[in-house]
Amino acid sequence: MGPEPDNTPVNNPDTGSKATLKSEWADRQRTLGNTQRAVLFKNFPDSFNQSLHAAHVQFIQRHMPAAAASLLDVGCGFGRTSLPLKAAYPALSFTGVELSEEFARVYQERIGPCFCGSVSDFTTDERFDVITIITLLMYLSEDERDREVARLGAMLKPGGRLIVIEPYFNFLTMMRRALKLRKLAPTGGEVRYFSRDELEHQLAAALPTFKRLETRLFGMPVTGLPRLHIGIAMAIPN
Ligand SMILES: C[S@@+](CC[C@H](N)C(=O)[O-])C[C@H]1O[C@@H](n2cnc3c(N)ncnc32)[C@H](O)[C@@H]1O
Repeated sequence: MGPEPDNTPVNNPDTGSKATLKSEWADRQRTLGNTQRAVLFKNFPDSFNQSLHAAHVQFIQRHMPAAAASLLDVGCGFGRTSLPLKAAYPALSFTGVELSEEFARVYQERIGPCFCGSVSDFTTDERFDVITIITLLMYLSEDERDREVARLGAMLKPGGRLIVIEPYFNFLTMMRRALKLRKLAPTGGEVRYFSRDELEHQLAAALPTFKRLETRLFGMPVTGLPRLHIGIAMAIPN
């Protein structure tokens, strides 16, 4: 997870907060590089991040349509999830959307074309078989979330899949807030967390014709830690 979004209105509230978020991500990329810790939990051991990463990739693969030809990775970072998918599906073409210039550059170098800017400024005539949104909605306002999810849903081909993974609102989140324990926060920052009902309802409201295929909670094996992420896979009817 990333730095805390700054919602302080400048002139245009969206542009103001995006500029802050962009520079925070540039700092984070400089400090942590193109690593799982940069885009997952910076205070967690590498083995924990690796296991969460593997579970994310497995979830996406489980919902990949059989004849998928194209994937759009929104808020792609350096391509943490696109990279292993590219190896697993060599014929699949990848497009990224990413606010941070360095992440976008790395994505483009290693994986495929990447629009460098905010998802809200991304437009295309292309239609995709799969769209992944992994830990991005947490940085958007509620209005933006509804608007962008609906807009992205319209970029899918018939039979396409939308796969969303976001921070899960759990016992750890409540405890950290109550005790102000920043060390327990994934990155030390405040970001948006979603309950299962909330995320399922928001996606259903933004995409009324889509069918929900699966909701999955992601945790760390063995540790007994509460679930950290929630994943939802949706399909647009043929
Ligand atoms: C927590 S990271 C996750 C990166 C990647 N999806 C992953 O799971 O490895 C969130 C990413 O979203 C990007 N981001 C934040 N707000 C964005 C926006 N409005 N439009 C596009 N990208 C954004 C950040 O720059 C960052 O790379």
